[in-house]
Amino acid sequence: MPQQVQGVVAPGKNEPVRVETIVIPDPGPGEAVVKIQACGVCHTDLHYKQGAINDDFPFLLGHEAAGIVESVGEGVTDVAPGDFVVLNWRAVCGQCRACLRGRPWYCFDTHNAKQKMTLLDGTELSPALGIGAFAEKTLVASGQCTKVDPAVAPEAAGLLGCGVMAGIGAAINTGNVGRGDSVAVIGCGGVGDAAIAGSRLAGAARIIAVDIDDKKLEKAKEMGATHTVNSRTSDPVEAIRELTGGFGADVVIEAVGRPETYQQAFYARDLAGTVVLVGVPTPEMKLELPLLDVFGRGGALKSSWYGDCLPSRDFPMLIDLHQQGRIDLGAFVTETIGLGDVEKAFARMHEGDVLRSVVIL
Ligand code: APR
Ligand code: ZN
Ligand code: ZN
Repeated sequence: MPQQVQGVVAPGKNEPVRVETIVIPDPGPGEAVVKIQACGVCHTDLHYKQGAINDDFPFLLGHEAAGIVESVGEGVTDVAPGDFVVLNWRAVCGQCRACLRGRPWYCFDTHNAKQKMTLLDGTELSPALGIGAFAEKTLVASGQCTKVDPAVAPEAAGLLGCGVMAGIGAAINTGNVGRGDSVAVIGCGGVGDAAIAGSRLAGAARIIAVDIDDKKLEKAKEMGATHTVNSRTSDPVEAIRELTGGFGADVVIEAVGRPETYQQAFYARDLAGTVVLVGVPTPEMKLELPLLDVFGRGGALKSSWYGDCLPSRDFPMLIDLHQQGRIDLGAFVTETIGLGDVEKAFARMHEGDVLRSVVIL
């Protein structure tokens, strides 16, 4: 029997989001219905509401979520009713060139649920990133569910579904930060702070946080930054060089997504060092660099796509480390809110003192 539940819908471009009754079909082959317990509010949800991703309104928002599998469809063996799962937006095919080469994060044949959730009048909903978890329940592909230790708080676990995983993964997967490395992180929002926490976890000796906001820099220290630089008041490239014996950092992670901060990252790395771009630029942004500097400085210029993560490997591992107190996923949760507060959480994103607002159900 299809079920009716409450969910947060973005009805049209820049229109305020509202809580609506939505209809969830029984799970079909390869699908699962998940009872959502917590879902973080991410910039991408706001971008959907603004029509910046595509025009497939109405959207069912929310995609950083954890919950309990309620029912599964035919052929589902990877999860079962009662499992505590973190959702991901990349249920990969396992068969394309990217998957077969062991880089499934570049798989573009990803699977979401085939059936549609709808409004009461039958209008089909587009779930944000194929998830749609600002809702009491949602319908996903079973491959979007990763089973993790149920002892963890759902509001902490769910954050691995997007921004926090992107930041940690930028450090541990893409940047390959290792014991004793010096790391600089430019931009200390949720993603940058997660890169800082990931660098600490990886054993970095020196972690330099760069931001234009002193409040962000204070928080970055709690996440593991050993040094901070306000790039409004001092030149970040010089400051990073000074803090690394005149050389530059082994790994510089750019978590803003702008040409000027990328340029800082490029020049703040040591010779043969690595730059990781995890901030998301907009289509019109261009970067100009002397080609001779690209040639002469060597090393690697990388970008990090969803933290280059493997949910099946990285989610359970990070939950274990969280449970052991070696990384604090809960530190990213600034406030817990209800389904009706998502619009307020969007407004608070611009105030700058929220890492994550998390909807609790
Ligand atoms: N130099 C240094 N820091 C900057 C600059 C700058 N020129 N401009 C902005 N910042 C800082 C902000 O002060 C803020 O602390 O970058 C941080 C950005 O944080 P958030 O807006 O909270 O964004 P976050 O969720 O961390 O995402 C960062 O990754 O996923 C992408 O779309 C996302 O591009 C964004 C980036
Ligand atoms: Zn694939
Ligand atoms: Zn997100």
